[in-house]
Amino acid sequence: MNLKKAGFSTRAIHAGERTEETGSVTTPIFQTAPFEFKNAAHAARVMGGKEKGYIYSRGLNPTTEVLEEKIANLEYGEAALAQTTGMAAISAAVFSKIKANDHVIADEVLYGNTYDLFVDLKNFGVNVSFIDTTYPENVENAFMKNTKLVFFETPANPTMKLTDIHAVSDIAHDRNAEVFVDNTFMTPYFQQPLLHSADVVVHSATKYLNGHGDTLGGLIISNSEFIKKARHTSKNVGGAISPFNSWLILRGMKTLPIRMDRHNENAMAVAKFLKMNERIDKVIYPGLADNPQYDLARKQMSGFGGMIAFTLKEKADVSVFLDSLKLCTLAVSLGETATLIQHPATMTHAVVPKEERIRYGITDELIRLSVGIEDVSDIIGDLEQALDKTG
Ligand SMILES: Cc1ncc(COP(=O)(O)O)c(C=O)c1O
Repeated sequence: MNLKKAGFSTRAIHAGERTEETGSVTTPIFQTAPFEFKNAAHAARVMGGKEKGYIYSRGLNPTTEVLEEKIANLEYGEAALAQTTGMAAISAAVFSKIKANDHVIADEVLYGNTYDLFVDLKNFGVNVSFIDTTYPENVENAFMKNTKLVFFETPANPTMKLTDIHAVSDIAHDRNAEVFVDNTFMTPYFQQPLLHSADVVVHSATKYLNGHGDTLGGLIISNSEFIKKARHTSKNVGGAISPFNSWLILRGMKTLPIRMDRHNENAMAVAKFLKMNERIDKVIYPGLADNPQYDLARKQMSGFGGMIAFTLKEKADVSVFLDSLKLCTLAVSLGETATLIQHPATMTHAVVPKEERIRYGITDELIRLSVGIEDVSDIIGDLEQALDKTG
């Protein structure tokens, strides 16, 4: 069957999968560091790049290769590279693109460690401007002669603001720069940045792609030339994922469509509930019709996902609320079966200096909710009883 033309669920299950010599229906875990060469001549051909072959799992591993082929298919990329964490994927992608004296434009709202990585790039002679990429004109104005890269998440973690992928890509391409999009929150099920002209997609596969909160992983998807460069960077930096973790993510990805539909449905119901609650000040969920970016969400996303940001009214006590929850788990991370809740100011975004954090909308009142796939009445019931305690 031509999997390029198959539906998303079919591709999530079958793309990249191989029937091995054993007839194993599921992908085997090739838990090995090196691979044996057939003879010295074979070694010379494979090592010299004249023949494809497995050498050492830091560069290429058959289990991981299935994961790479599957995500490349789902994101409409030519190729992909799997890494041990989302941060390893982001850094390998960035280090494969930029060098000293380059300039990078990054959205000001990013996952805390991604933000910190861009801050650290200054130590390597790379100049980074943090701006609000929500407004394409800001991107245009931030361009310098040496700008090589525009990087953003959409929706952004944790404020849920969106960036117009197509508009920013057009601006960047007119100026010989590339656009990298962190698609962790939407997954390729709801958003395919490469189809909106982005150049590179990165993921924390730790989140929805794996979906069960039991492994870390990262992915880079792009054209074959870029992935070749990223694989070279990864070999030197050493970010390869373990075959077992690749296998866990492969297993998770087979149910991605049904999980994402349920996350989406549950999050919509929870967002509507929060909106009506008197103790809540603001609810930011792209699927709410009164969200100022609702039209953009509809344009570039085919669903709204499971992530919600909200603020309690000033007098309500965030700690009392969080400590009163009985079902929702107080934990960082997101995109797994269980509902996870966290306080960005003191948790995922504690690395962002307070003044900047507040300027970017990551206020002390902001709470991030990763709506799980439990029965939605139980999630809402738990949130309601905890909100009542904040009196
Ligand atoms: C949007 C986003 N990108 C990247 C990362 C980093 O991923 P990992 O924790 O797998 O390194 C995270 C982690 O929370 C994230 O939320």
